[in-house]
Amino acid sequence: MMSQAHLHSLCLLILYLTTGYSREGKFSGPLKPMTFSVFEGQDQNQIIFQFTANPPAVTFELTGETEGIFQIEPNGYLHLIKALDRETKSVHNFQVLALDAQGAIVEGPVPITIEVKDINDNRPMFHQFKYQGTVRQNSRPGKPFMYVNATDLDDPATPNGQLFYQIVVQLPNVDNVMYFQINNKTGAISLTREGAWELDPAKNPSYNLMVSVKDMGGQNENSFSDTASVDITVMENIWKAPEPVEVVENSTDPHPIKITQVRWNDPGALYFLVEKEKLPRFPFSIDKEGDIYVTQPLDREEKDSYVFYAVAKDEQGNPLSYPLEIHVKVEDINDNPPSCPSPMTVFEVQENEMLGSNIGTLTAHDLDKENTLHSFLEYRIVEQTPKLPTDEIFLIQFATGMIQLAKRSLKRQENPQYNLTVEVSDEDFKTLCYVQINVIDINDQIPIFDKSDYGNLTLAEDTAIGTIILIIQATDADEPLTGSSKIIYRIVEGDNEERLGIDTDLHTNAGYVTIKKSLDFETAAVSNIVVKAENPEPLVSGVTYNESSFAKFTLIVTDVNEAPQFSQHTFQANVSEDVAVGTKLGHVTAKDPEGLDISYSLRGDKRGWLRIDHVTGEIFSVAPLDREAESLYRVQVVATEVGGSSLSSMSQFHLTLTDVNDNPPRLAKEYTGLFFCHPVSAPGSLIFEATDDDQKPFRGHHFTFSLGSENLQNDWEVSKINGTHAKLSTKHTNFEEKVYEISIRISDGGRPPLEGIVSLPVTFCTCVEGHCFKPVGHQDGMPTVGMAVGILLTTFLVIGIILAVVFIRMKKDKGKDNVENAQGSETKPLRS
Ligand SMILES: *[C@@H]1O[C@H](CO)[C@@H](O)[C@H](O)[C@H]1NC(C)=O
Ligand SMILES: *[C@@H]1O[C@H](CO)[C@@H](O)[C@H](O)[C@H]1NC(C)=O
Ligand SMILES: *[C@@H]1O[C@H](CO)[C@@H](O)[C@H](O)[C@H]1NC(C)=O
Ligand SMILES: *[C@@H]1O[C@H](CO)[C@@H](O)[C@H](O)[C@H]1NC(C)=O
Ligand SMILES: *[C@@H]1O[C@H](CO)[C@@H](O)[C@H](O)[C@H]1NC(C)=O
Ligand SMILES: *[C@@H]1O[C@H](CO)[C@@H](O)[C@H](O)[C@H]1NC(C)=O
Ligand SMILES: *[C@@H]1O[C@H](CO)[C@@H](O)[C@H](O)[C@H]1NC(C)=O
Ligand SMILES: *[C@@H]1O[C@H](CO)[C@@H](O)[C@H](O)[C@H]1NC(C)=O
Repeated sequence: MMSQAHLHSLCLLILYLTTGYSREGKFSGPLKPMTFSVFEGQDQNQIIFQFTANPPAVTFELTGETEGIFQIEPNGYLHLIKALDRETKSVHNFQVLALDAQGAIVEGPVPITIEVKDINDNRPMFHQFKYQGTVRQNSRPGKPFMYVNATDLDDPATPNGQLFYQIVVQLPNVDNVMYFQINNKTGAISLTREGAWELDPAKNPSYNLMVSVKDMGGQNENSFSDTASVDITVMENIWKAPEPVEVVENSTDPHPIKITQVRWNDPGALYFLVEKEKLPRFPFSIDKEGDIYVTQPLDREEKDSYVFYAVAKDEQGNPLSYPLEIHVKVEDINDNPPSCPSPMTVFEVQENEMLGSNIGTLTAHDLDKENTLHSFLEYRIVEQTPKLPTDEIFLIQFATGMIQLAKRSLKRQENPQYNLTVEVSDEDFKTLCYVQINVIDINDQIPIFDKSDYGNLTLAEDTAIGTIILIIQATDADEPLTGSSKIIYRIVEGDNEERLGIDTDLHTNAGYVTIKKSLDFETAAVSNIVVKAENPEPLVSGVTYNESSFAKFTLIVTDVNEAPQFSQHTFQANVSEDVAVGTKLGHVTAKDPEGLDISYSLRGDKRGWLRIDHVTGEIFSVAPLDREAESLYRVQVVATEVGGSSLSSMSQFHLTLTDVNDNPPRLAKEYTGLFFCHPVSAPGSLIFEATDDDQKPFRGHHFTFSLGSENLQNDWEVSKINGTHAKLSTKHTNFEEKVYEISIRISDGGRPPLEGIVSLPVTFCTCVEGHCFKPVGHQDGMPTVGMAVGILLTTFLVIGIILAVVFIRMKKDKGKDNVENAQGSETKPLRS
């Protein structure tokens, strides 16, 4: 008994560790209601708990549904006599009684609950050995189309009952691409992305999958598994874009009219149409069967094709697949009449055009489809007005609309304008278009003179230029005021000197013969003038000017004594200004038309520089010339007849003097206001400018500057700034308060070089506010008595103010003043 008890306590320990335990974690104790968790499948005789008896209780007993599994020993050991099975019964309830020696109940019945804990003692099993399913081509990837289902009796709350599905093999299998996938928890089978894309019943209509299911979530190598075979049939996708539809425009049938259809693979889909481009109107609809309708008549001329999408959605509004593109082409009917290019088409035709000439092409338009009978146009002339000189002068090309001359060429004189009515027709419609044809004149008439000989015309040779000496007249029968009828008169003979001109009156075509250059008895006493009348436009071929377009007259010029004439209007000479007195400068010549001798003289020689030889016309200098006085010297020369009426005429003699360097440089202006403030606090400088009177060299002056005397060099310095400007600087500060005349030598570098010595007055004076106050005695110029008094008074007044200002300023900024003034005079010499 003791050894058995010992054994039992050992077992109890094992029991606790391996099979069950009380909720308090103890394995023995007094009788009270208790719950135990015990793994199923344990060997029999496993001890669950030991109840200890309190006197007078000496023994225990079980009541309730012990089901032959549980037993209690009189000493209180509760144990199994059969293995538990959770799948049969997962919770057991019974009671324990404590009895005394007499068998009377001392305690209890106390309820005891045994919860059976699962062990993985069941394998998962597919419900079917073989599954069969179908899938539509192009189904949405991931959307389940069938399930496989297995069950495992183990507790689904533990890994023992958690199932894991897998596709083991897919047959056929190309390049290891899986077309199918399985949800590892639910067993739902769907297409992969590749499957949705590539499955095609035409290529392979059926697949076989080997799927497995494992328990323990598939993660344990001790898990149980089962397999099943799945046969899948791929069915054709009927969600396909229909063939492009053709709809005849302007249909009179009642709308809507079914034009095509789409179908989702399964019933119950919702269909929608979606526009591809935004349209002002969208005349299509779809019904719940997927039938597509056109809702109103279409107009090909407005839009000749439509593209839009059909969409299928599930009840939640999710698209079931990709949208289908629907193409609708609008077919033409002949519903547009031809239209004229403009209300009135105007063509022009020249008179004399040959038969068959192209006058113009009438191009009417038809909006209906090109290159069909609907827009193929035919042309026919239905009326011509006026019917002058006959009807049917014109014809029109039946197919092209080209209008031609059919019977004869036209004359503007006969009829200048025709109106044609042209009927333009397509298959069903007729339109009338209007054409105007204007006949334009051509130059087929020549000018004809009224007279062929205008006789003798006698004129004095001094008849004034501009005088009209004769009016001639020719006429032209072409269209007035055109280049075909306008007349230009041209002297073709007898006026080589072009002394005459002929102006035409535009309205009358009269020709006014006018003197343009003076007549000359001496060279042309009698001229036989021939005039031709021409049009500015060329004549048409076949027509030429004939004798009627020419006229003549004789010009007889009578002699008048005329003044001499110079050979030139202006004579020019060009000499250097330093030519010796008596040099010949130029030569003028004049001739008398009547051949008389001539005597020359000068007029306007205001400087008395020139002399003219009365006989030869040679001109000489009689005094030194000076370019700086007159660079262009103008005098008049006079030629006078010797004898006769002593008529004279005048011409110009222009003498240009070229420069020689004969002027020394000088200061550019009078420098009277240059000053330095005294006492001088620091060396300063002044800028001055030089010039000279000779012609400025092309690149400007290049003067050089130096001090005029050596004893100035201790106090002053001159430095060149550029060709015209130089700087005079003080070398020290030790100057008296007076005016220094600084002599400066300026050289012009000319050929020969000339030098000028100039004197630059520089004042050292007391400064106030940057202004120089010179002592009265040093003022430039001599003031009058009145001015002097005024100046004196003003000076006193100013000095008073200045003293006040100076006083205030001295108080204010003490020593700075001098420095500022010296700097001021360096950068900015003051003007007087
Ligand atoms: C699988 O079978 C179990 C038991 O028959 C059932 O409860 C469950 O709903 C099924 N699952 C599917 C997805 O059919
Ligand atoms: C099971 O499937 C889910 C997605 O459905 C995935 O996240 C998970 O990794 C899968 N488990 C295993 C072990 O492949
Ligand atoms: C339709 O045709 C009729 C003649 O057949 C025409 O008058 C009408 O303008 C056409 N409508 C359109 C929109 O083309
Ligand atoms: C041609 O028609 C135009 C416009 O109707 C009219 O002004 C003109 O006088 C007509 N010409 C002839 C020659 O009938
Ligand atoms: C014109 O003058 C010429 C001589 O110059 C003379 O022979 C002729 O008869 C004159 N003609 C007329 C019409 O006076
Ligand atoms: C010149 O031609 C015109 C017609 O163009 C004709 O009337 C005239 O007689 C001709 N004159 C001469 C001199 O031949
Ligand atoms: C005058 O002659 C000089 C030297 O020959 C020449 O350079 C200059 O251009 C001439 N001037 C005139 C106005 O002809
Ligand atoms: C020469 O220098 C003066 C003073 O700096 C300046 O005003 C002038 O424009 C200069 N002349 C030329 C041609 O550079």
